[in-house]
Amino acid sequence: MEYLADLKIATVAFLALSLEKPLLLEGDAGVGKTELALALSRLFGSDLIRLQCYEGIDSTQAVYDWDYAKQLLHLRATEAVGVQTDRTSLEAELYEDRYLVERPLLRSLGYSDPSRPPVLLIDELDRADDEFEAFLLELLSTFEITIPELGTRRALVKPIVILTSNRTRDLHDALKRRCLYLWVDHPAFEREVEIIRLHVPDASEVLSAQIGAIVQEFRRQGLVKPPGIAEAIDWASALTSLSAVEVTPEWLEMTLGAVIKYREDEERLASIGVGTLIKQAFARFGA
Ligand SMILES: Nc1ncnc2c1ncn2[C@@H]1O[C@H](COP(=O)(O)OP(=O)(O)OP(=O)(O)O)[C@@H](O)[C@H]1O
Ligand SMILES: [Mg+2]
Repeated sequence: MEYLADLKIATVAFLALSLEKPLLLEGDAGVGKTELALALSRLFGSDLIRLQCYEGIDSTQAVYDWDYAKQLLHLRATEAVGVQTDRTSLEAELYEDRYLVERPLLRSLGYSDPSRPPVLLIDELDRADDEFEAFLLELLSTFEITIPELGTRRALVKPIVILTSNRTRDLHDALKRRCLYLWVDHPAFEREVEIIRLHVPDASEVLSAQIGAIVQEFRRQGLVKPPGIAEAIDWASALTSLSAVEVTPEWLEMTLGAVIKYREDEERLASIGVGTLIKQAFARFGA
């Protein structure tokens, strides 16, 4: 899938690549933050390594872990065969490379082809806690990780790092300082219609434009959860699969669940009147 960037997004992405700086993307849900990382990995034909953050994420999930089951098996096998070995060397055997489980951050340091740097996507960092952010800060300055039993791993080729945040909390200034920052806004009407057409080619030009216009209008209503591009795409698929050729008030009411995900928002739109909203939207965007 192609990524339709506006000039600002394209410029910041270009700068992040040429300055070799991590790129921090913030913005509402569904505005295309994750997709930008996917697009960069497609551009280089390189691997996308994704670390999905969540509350309580720690280094065994993000950096590396040991394969306990295999280690145990090794111990049992040594016992069963009756190999004579001392305790120190047996312990050392347990911490060999083959028992190491590489998690995304460690994996992202293991590439050597400079023409195809991996893209490391650290998604929704705001969900992780402070300690984890502090650890990342260190990693993003040195691009090395020390495993006490094996030594230090340093990146031969720096990964392209994209961090995203939905801003459920503020990230620390120290982390921001190391990154280029981009606030990803909802797209302008024309670009959104293009994105809808790209994802749902079966939707007619008229239908796509109307959906774009209504979604833009919804975003002006101060909703709890204004619809993102993801919702606009879902809605276009929903209407197309119902063979709708135009957005009428009836279609809007029946398929609202594809765009609006909060009861309060539904009530708010109903109080304005869907017919009124549609008229306003079409008038504003000439759809
Ligand atoms: N510029 C774009 N060009 C093409 N497709 C896009 C673009 N922006 C967003 N999309 C599409 O919109 C949908 C939502 O985008 P994405 O998942 O990247 O949003 P997000 O900002 O990461 O949302 P969340 O905060 O919920 O994770 C995806 O299906 C994506 O393919
Ligand atoms: Mg995302």
